[in-house]
Amino acid sequence: MPAIEFQGQCFQLDDNENLLDGLLKQKASVPFSCRAGVCHSCLLQVTEGKPPADSQQFLTEKQTAKGFMLACQAHVIEDITVRLPLRDEVPGIITGLTQLSPTEIRLTMSTRLPFSISKGDQVYLVNHEGFEGHYPVADVSDDLLIIECLIERKAGGDPFSAWVHSDAQTGLRLMLIKQN
Ligand code: FES
Repeated sequence: MPAIEFQGQCFQLDDNENLLDGLLKQKASVPFSCRAGVCHSCLLQVTEGKPPADSQQFLTEKQTAKGFMLACQAHVIEDITVRLPLRDEVPGIITGLTQLSPTEIRLTMSTRLPFSISKGDQVYLVNHEGFEGHYPVADVSDDLLIIECLIERKAGGDPFSAWVHSDAQTGLRLMLIKQN
């Protein structure tokens, strides 16, 4: 009976059980979509143990070298520790807009996937209308799921800043992309 460590919890699976099915059955929060090895939503990274061979067949050499695997394709036979991989590009939603001054708003965004970003890094933001701009990250939560930026309104500034100060609302979607 393999034991799977994931997000600080231990999940017992049956021998050869499908990893995605086994985790979902036990109410673990794992992203997924196609269940066929195509969309890569269920990508996990093994941090201890060996990824099952069948779990890496649709991945690149670079991904397999880093211990990535697809949960929907994995049939586990031994104990492993897995985590959600950090991503350089994640979808998010606006969860807060706090007016700090007439020209500055604190924009709080939430993502479902851990974002590979740190305080002070530059993040490129694109809204659902295609307005874009890049800003330094003012704060990020320990689990890398909540990101804050201070958005200043300037004469002749980028359209994204103008949008944040005029039409942005909580619940709207945007993309967050790490700038290297
Ligand atoms: S759910 Fe699409 S690849 Fe696993």
